[in-house]
Amino acid sequence: MKSLFVILSVMICILIVNTTEAATQALPKDYTSWKKSDRKVVADKNSLFYGIHYIYADKKAQNGYKSDNKFSVGSRIIVEFFNIKSDPSVDGTKNMIVMMQKDRHHGETGGWQFTGFGADGKPSGIDPVENCFGCHLKEAADKDFVISTKKDFR
Ligand code: HEC
Repeated sequence: MKSLFVILSVMICILIVNTTEAATQALPKDYTSWKKSDRKVVADKNSLFYGIHYIYADKKAQNGYKSDNKFSVGSRIIVEFFNIKSDPSVDGTKNMIVMMQKDRHHGETGGWQFTGFGADGKPSGIDPVENCFGCHLKEAADKDFVISTKKDFR
C-alpha cells in the first residue's frame, strides 16, 4: 500500500513538472540554422538595442516577411543580442535572446507569445505584456506587430 502511494506521488510530480514546462516556451535548439538577418549595430547608448543583434526567422516566418508581414500560426522569430566592444566589428559576449511565436492564444499580445531568455537560453521570466508588447504595438500595429521587415533579410 505504501509503495503504491509513493508511485502515485511520483506520477503526480511528473505531471506537474510537465504542465509547467509546456506553459513556458523553450528556445528551439536549431534556430541558428534559420534565415539570419544582416548584422545590426546600434551605437546609441540610450537605446534599449545598444549593442549588436541578429534576427533569425524560421520557414513560416520567412514566408510571413515575404508577404509584407502577414504571419501564419507557428511562425517563430528570434533575436540574439551581443555586447558592443571598443572595436565594433567584433561581437562582444551574448547577453540576451528574445522570441516571438505566433499562436492561436495570446490575444492580449497580438496573437504572439513573447518570451525573453538569458544568454544561456533559459527563460528569464520577463512579463510579456509589461515588458515586450508596448513597443511592438506602438511601432508595428499595422505589420502584425513585427517591427523588422523583409529588407532586414537580404
Ligand atoms: C523598447 C522597445 C521594445 C521592447 C520593450 C521590446 N522590443 Fe522587441 N523589438 C523592438 C524593435 C525596435 C525591434 C526591431 C529590431 C530591428 O529591426 O533590428 C524588435 C524586434 C523584435 C523581434 C524580431 C521581430 C520583430 O518584431 O522585428 C522579436 C522576436 C522581439 N523583438 C521580441 C521581443 C520580446 C520577447 C520582448 C520582451 C522581452 C521585446 N521584444 C521587447 C523593440 C522592442
